[in-house]
Amino acid sequence: MALLLTLIILALITICSSYSTSSFTMRKGRPSAKKAMSSLSKNPNSPTTSSTSIPSNWKLIPDIKTSDLPDKDGQITLIDTNLDGIKDAGVNPTGAICCASFAGKLYAFKVNCSCCQVPMNKAKILPPPEAGLLEAPRLSCDFCGSTFNLRTGEPVDDATKSEGAGGNMLGGMVKGLMKSRGRKPIKVYALSSDDKGRVLISL
Ligand SMILES: *[C@@H]1O[C@H](CO)[C@@H](O)[C@H](O)[C@H]1NC(C)=O
Repeated sequence: MALLLTLIILALITICSSYSTSSFTMRKGRPSAKKAMSSLSKNPNSPTTSSTSIPSNWKLIPDIKTSDLPDKDGQITLIDTNLDGIKDAGVNPTGAICCASFAGKLYAFKVNCSCCQVPMNKAKILPPPEAGLLEAPRLSCDFCGSTFNLRTGEPVDDATKSEGAGGNMLGGMVKGLMKSRGRKPIKVYALSSDDKGRVLISL
């Protein structure tokens, strides 16, 4: 009786161990199959994604000439683009954007500050914080003082009062209230012109 029991236990152990080894090899086999799959799917994909990633999205701004754009340092002008993609039936029916001139270059960005939502046509354009080829001018909201990289729209350290920026007291309070939502970038657009002085925008 005791012998039979021992035999049964032994048999059980053998079954269990063989089961666990087979499940171990299966588990070991799975990731390598996955790896093979992913390397298979990666190879044909990468050339197609890189060849289609250059978007052709330049649009002519109707009725706007290069002479309508600002040309004085730090000047900001509102331009109605009337273009789908910028127009917003509720808040921006004419598709207005801000255009700014600084150091002989043109910049375009969304009308309202991403922090306090006040129009940016009276904002301050400031030189880059440091010298360097990659440095971009800054845009500082005249109401709340939120400051952005004028080329990328990314938020940067807020410009200070000593730079003639910093917003006003009420704006500072609004900025304080919005701070919990995190700093958002401001949408920027690239501009260009053709030989007839018409203005193009990249959407
Ligand atoms: C921008 O601000 C103006 C004035 O406060 C407002 O009328 C307009 O709806 C705002 N536009 C957007 C896109 O928030």
